[in-house]
Amino acid sequence: MIILFFASKSCSGLPHKRILLGLLSILFPNLEVRLHDKMAEILEQNKKTVHIHQYSWLTGAKILVTSDPANVRHVMSTNFANYPKGLKWREHMDVLGDTLFSADLKEWEHERKLARCFLSHHKFHDAMTKIVWDRIQTGLVPVLQRVSEQALVVDLQDLFQKHILDIAWIMSIGYNPNSLSTESQKDLFSLALEDVCEAAFTRFLMPHSLWKLHRWLGIGKEKKLKHAWETIDRVFADCMSKKDEDGFNYQAFYHPPFGSTATRKGLRDNVISLIFATQDTTSSVLTWFFYSVAKHPYAEAKIRDEISEISPQELNKLVYLHAALCETLRLYPPGPVLSRTAADADTLPSGHRIERDTNVVIAVHAMGRMRSVWGDDCHEFKPERWITEHGEIKRVPYYQFLAFSAGPRICLGKELAFTMMKATAATIIHNYEIRILKDHPAEPKNSIVFHMKHGLMARINNRWT
Ligand code: HEM
Repeated sequence: MIILFFASKSCSGLPHKRILLGLLSILFPNLEVRLHDKMAEILEQNKKTVHIHQYSWLTGAKILVTSDPANVRHVMSTNFANYPKGLKWREHMDVLGDTLFSADLKEWEHERKLARCFLSHHKFHDAMTKIVWDRIQTGLVPVLQRVSEQALVVDLQDLFQKHILDIAWIMSIGYNPNSLSTESQKDLFSLALEDVCEAAFTRFLMPHSLWKLHRWLGIGKEKKLKHAWETIDRVFADCMSKKDEDGFNYQAFYHPPFGSTATRKGLRDNVISLIFATQDTTSSVLTWFFYSVAKHPYAEAKIRDEISEISPQELNKLVYLHAALCETLRLYPPGPVLSRTAADADTLPSGHRIERDTNVVIAVHAMGRMRSVWGDDCHEFKPERWITEHGEIKRVPYYQFLAFSAGPRICLGKELAFTMMKATAATIIHNYEIRILKDHPAEPKNSIVFHMKHGLMARINNRWT
């Protein structure tokens, strides 16, 4: 962000105050600066693309930040081969290990094929749909019931993290940590993943040598990351010892479609990566969805009407709910930025000439809030924008709606994510009233995942008692 502030000055003469803010946010990582909102503002003022090359001597990086749909299509699809994630991405996300998520080129193609065979198979989806409904009925609903009966205040973000975490563990390795049973305390694994995301965000912002220095000194977010890494490894080891007790043969289990190397470390990396891809994203959308719906009671009423006409199980018929989730994903995409590295020099459709090794940052969150992309009402929560006059979900060009990424590297779990989100949201809206605490501050964290900084505190009332 520091670099963005510098560049914004050179591009449009924005005040020096911005540069100062950028500098301060690096020097004092806990400074209250809403970086994602600032990014949208700066991009809107700079024709959707900011190119920073003149400061590479200072930052050690050549960076281009864009929310221009034409550039996005070029980077993510038309000239995909020139834009791998790159070695820095792998380094920033080192806690996830070596998997599909960090792979590039031939290695990525191979891993992607294996994962797609598995995640797109109808048997996988059928099995997961059963697991999702089971977890809702036997895990989530009893907690909602207790919270409602005892008139407790609950953190919905924490609740959704635990709920999706249990599903993600079951999906990845057939293990249920029963995180929801610890409803009164924060789940350590979820907290660790949040710390990983914050540290990764800081690494993306900082000059390479600076975050490495922080790691060496064991300070700041790097200190938190170290502890988070230990927690993740400890929880995984606990899971494996339980599986070992049950006579689990990981070498037999660990072959395609779960990845290509049959080692314990390979298994750990794949399981943790899949959980990461599933839990943080899906629980974040659910949290922002309930926040948005609470602020727009007419939308909640429409969803409720829609559900009352059919069974909540008929998820495909819940068009308005689907639209409300898409609207949440537009305004609060769990991954606010995507990052690629130019393998060779290139010219983007916007006319920007970039050098080899330029880090191209796709500003997903900013794109959802651009007047030029979504119209004058871009800041409003309007599920209607997703529905055609025939009452179907509108197809939006993939390079305009990037919450699930786009092109050959598009998310492989989109369908499952919608199943989890729709089943969970439909069950809650049909049976409960959610009352977000008045004046609760709903702020995003400065992180690679759009977590809420203070959680989402709410009361829950059963509608039928
Ligand atoms: C609302 C929920 C979700 C959102 C918004 C989401 C979003 C994304 C995004 C933006 C990427 C691209 C990341 C990048 O290129 O840097 C991605 C990749 C991926 N996602 Fe998801 N995701 C969600 C849920 C899931 C779930 C539930 C699964 C697993 C079942 C999953 C599996 C994957 C995989 C395997 C990739 C890697 C694709 C590749 O690199 O080829 N995602 N997701």
